[in-house]
Amino acid sequence: MKIMILGAGAREYSIALALKKERENLEFIFVPGNGASAKLGQNVDIKDVKELALYAKNEGVELCIVGSESFLEQGVVDEFLKLNLKIFGPTKSAAMLESSKAFMKEFLQRHKIKTARFINTSEFKEACEFIESLTPPIVVKADGLCAGKGVIIAKSKEEATQVAAKMLSGESFGEAGRKIVVEEFLDGFELSIFALCDEEDFVLLPAAQDHKKLYDNDEGPNTGGMGAYAPSSLASKELLERVKDEMIKPTLKGMKEENNAFCGVLFVGLMVVKNEPFVLEFNVRFGDPECEVLMPLINNPLELFMAASEKRLKNFKLDLRNEVAVGVVCAGKNYPFKASPKSKIEISKIPENSHISYAGVSLEKDELIADGGRILVCVGTGKTIQEAKKKAYELCENVNYEGKHFRKDIAYQVD
Ligand code: AMP
Ligand code: GLY
Repeated sequence: MKIMILGAGAREYSIALALKKERENLEFIFVPGNGASAKLGQNVDIKDVKELALYAKNEGVELCIVGSESFLEQGVVDEFLKLNLKIFGPTKSAAMLESSKAFMKEFLQRHKIKTARFINTSEFKEACEFIESLTPPIVVKADGLCAGKGVIIAKSKEEATQVAAKMLSGESFGEAGRKIVVEEFLDGFELSIFALCDEEDFVLLPAAQDHKKLYDNDEGPNTGGMGAYAPSSLASKELLERVKDEMIKPTLKGMKEENNAFCGVLFVGLMVVKNEPFVLEFNVRFGDPECEVLMPLINNPLELFMAASEKRLKNFKLDLRNEVAVGVVCAGKNYPFKASPKSKIEISKIPENSHISYAGVSLEKDELIADGGRILVCVGTGKTIQEAKKKAYELCENVNYEGKHFRKDIAYQVD
């Protein structure tokens, strides 16, 4: 059976590893993939989504799983569906829940789903008036996709005003910043909640927690994510029930009513403030590195993706391992500022109950070379968070390349 996976990161790699564990005889096509995925399957570099759908049809691909949001914004799902191909992900117009923050915030408001108080605007004057009404810190967000960099938390009204001016003029993020969202700052803890949806029904995965800052103690600049663990004991049963009833169900219902039915991963970026959940953002794909710790916990991921893409989630039984997974991202020396020097990766030993999901690596003469921002993720599993963490860190120590950087405190919240 041929499976196509869209993306180049450790997220996509971890999906393939989990599927392979469930079923041996799968053939993978990664688009574009990385140096390590080339060893799990075949890498193909087709950027045009129409061309990609035709290629998938000719190759007899039976299921396409979209990892990266950039394909979604280009309408890859629409093109696959036109050719009657099976694909797991939202259409271009449903993907606006992630690709336009203004669309997402207005949707939340229309459907009375709790989120930070905000305005959407393209007018500097209006932005300034709203900024005046808030108490710093103040959050300013570019409307469009900015590769995770479009959110600025300003410490003062003056800074917020300057950030807004630079975004609106196009100086900071080009067209993606010509419209902005200004919102109040919410002070709490963040959780990543993933619902796999088939327009009507959904399956909730264990809650995960990401670590966005580069350094220990949540210091330094924001990154794509430096590590994650799941399930998080910070997500109580009651909290998850509320997220289902007050956020996920109304979102699926609202999208359907607006003729924009949602199929794919609904990633709720949650802020929990004094036990009250707020939607910070929606993404319409798995988080990276959250996916790398969720995949090892699911025994039947292929069945799950198939059921979701065939709209059979209503009676689907998720088979979860009763374990915890911790993933530690090993990044390059200069991540996230600029490219790091290339360097050969050497791994002395992979301990039991641990594995690697590869991201920024290339293959040269059959050797893996660190060649990117986030290089790889060391994942450990165990019965307890301590066990899983120990395994992940043991593996981190066994991996070597020039300039290796990783956080030493992943999962500190629950340790
Ligand atoms: P977003 O891309 O909207 O998830 O924002 C990126 C990160 O900025 C989030 O993961 C939060 O850490 C932070 N953030 C965004 N909005 C807010 C907010 N209203 N209050 C506090 N932190 C926020
Ligand atoms: N780890 C957060 C994200 O993928 O957006």
